[in-house]
Amino acid sequence: MTIPELTDVHAAWLPPEAFRAIGSRRTLVQADGPLAETVRAEVERARARYGGAAEGPYDLVLSLNAAEGADGYAIARRDGVTTVTGGDPAGLLYGFFHVVRLGEAAFGPDREPEHHRPAMRRRMLDHWDNIDVHPVMGQVERGYAGGSIFWSDGALRPDLTRVRAYGRLLAASGVNAVAINNVNVHATEARLLTDRLGEVAAIAAELRPYGIRVHLSVNFASPIALGGLPTADPLDEGVRAWWARTTEQVYAAIPDFGGYVVKADSEGQPGPFAYGRTHADGANMLAEALAPFGGVVHWRAFVYNHRQDWRDRSTDRARAAYDHFAPLDGRFAGNAILQVKHGPMDFQTREPVSPVILEMQGTRLAVELQVTQEYTGQQRHVCYLAPMWSEILAFENVAETGDLVAVSNVGDDRYWTGHPLAQANLYAFGRLAWDPGLDPAAVLDEWIDLTFAWPGESLRRTLHAMMDGSWRTYERYTAPLGVGFMVRPGHHYGPDVDGYEYTPWGTYHFADRDGVGVDRTRATGTGFTGQYPQPWSDIYESLERCPDELLLFFHHVPYGHVLHSGSTVIQHIYDTHFAGAEEAAEIRLHWEKLADTDAVDPDLYARVKERLDEQVRCAEEWRDQINAYFFRKSGVPDARGRHIS
Ligand code: GCU
Repeated sequence: MTIPELTDVHAAWLPPEAFRAIGSRRTLVQADGPLAETVRAEVERARARYGGAAEGPYDLVLSLNAAEGADGYAIARRDGVTTVTGGDPAGLLYGFFHVVRLGEAAFGPDREPEHHRPAMRRRMLDHWDNIDVHPVMGQVERGYAGGSIFWSDGALRPDLTRVRAYGRLLAASGVNAVAINNVNVHATEARLLTDRLGEVAAIAAELRPYGIRVHLSVNFASPIALGGLPTADPLDEGVRAWWARTTEQVYAAIPDFGGYVVKADSEGQPGPFAYGRTHADGANMLAEALAPFGGVVHWRAFVYNHRQDWRDRSTDRARAAYDHFAPLDGRFAGNAILQVKHGPMDFQTREPVSPVILEMQGTRLAVELQVTQEYTGQQRHVCYLAPMWSEILAFENVAETGDLVAVSNVGDDRYWTGHPLAQANLYAFGRLAWDPGLDPAAVLDEWIDLTFAWPGESLRRTLHAMMDGSWRTYERYTAPLGVGFMVRPGHHYGPDVDGYEYTPWGTYHFADRDGVGVDRTRATGTGFTGQYPQPWSDIYESLERCPDELLLFFHHVPYGHVLHSGSTVIQHIYDTHFAGAEEAAEIRLHWEKLADTDAVDPDLYARVKERLDEQVRCAEEWRDQINAYFFRKSGVPDARGRHIS
């Protein structure tokens, strides 16, 4: 077992110093098997660096006790000895990283046993990586951190050290599954299922020592494209036999393979509709092929009409997932997991929780988040997303779904995520998937401490001040009150209020001279509010009860409508946009105070500074476009007399 040594890339949240507390002490690992070997190797590496001893009397003892449950562990301190008891070898690994997170504090005064178990059984990252460089989307679709860590020049990277290092980072945050390729499965990538399966096996071998199982996105039409069959009809015997055979070969190569991810009948991807079959038919066919091996299929619910006529006011994209899937509740196989984006639209800065998650109680569900910042500043803006995820996870039954998935934000960039501070989103995703009840501000401090090896108060305070409120800042200077989009079509960066207004994508705001917002009520609108159970169905329907931050998602209102905050909609738009751009400038000021100090490495300083300059510029552009647009539409001047072009 080799611990990846990454001298030429930033080590993210596991710099060598993070292991000083363990490495300088006497540690015993009392367990066997591959994951215990990983822990042993980690301990030995730390010891070699910091001079601890392998003989007793021990400061730290790691052992197993099945009572702690799968992935679980207990940590305690008594009579000068810290003990970690894993429920299984994976629990031992997570317990070990808990000690790393605590640092010196793990060896402080006695403490009663704390028991930790993950809330989510599967904590999964989806890569939207391609093997080839796609002419429009690049190598990593919606990737803002360079090329893929798995493939370069059309082939598996010869050196996968970085993949091992990635697995290590993920294990330290609690992630235990990775889907390695884009959900839009193009011709080359489709072959990962068959003649390029060796590449999947090689990646799995790098991630396995850190307890991470590999999943694969597959193309629904594979029986035609790869198997030479005339059809991909899920009820066709030949098609079923092909999937069964193919899946058997996958498990022969990768015995702990996790399963398939499928985007079907969505944005041009093939699916069961072509054969007059349902999504349950499609998902269950793959579930049947995977079942003998304990695998699962993640079947995505992101199905909507992307060729809508914008003149047709009755079609509502927000309704689509529920309309397609709710009638199928109870008809999915036990190992078919419906993977639902957290909101009904598409990873906007603010959306209500998807009603599919609330209503489909007879189906295994996975909630999908987006760590990659497609609509939240593309890793050029500081936007710490954990506060948003935490709100989503606290809503009704969301945290009980058992499976949390997110689109990864890493690439072959030196800092993994382009914007070094975007690493915090990757870390926080794993931590919240483990325990959705964690305070996002505390997770942020945890990330700061682990990444900068317990820096002084001043650096911690600076980073905290820059990041903790950054999602709300981003919300303030972009699309107002939950209406969403208003981004430049295609790449989705920067403001373009009407960019999507007269397009087939179903993402409209309906601003005119009198008002703005989408009427999704039952009374006069698209009826989307009726997809929610009570009380939400009535809360969202009611103009009085609908939360301000979602007002324009559910209602079309006049500019003079008064919010709960006491402000009119138009004045709220002006105020938040002036404030948001100012806050972006303040974030940069915090960072600039670190210039000419030795608080952070000069390259890191420069990288963040360059991104902050762009954030400030872009926030001003958002402010000016949104304010000018609504001033020109409404003719209502700013009550505070500020200049609007
Ligand atoms: C968004 C994104 C696409 C992606 C899609 C999906 O629409 O822009 O690039 O393919 O989501 O989640 O499938």
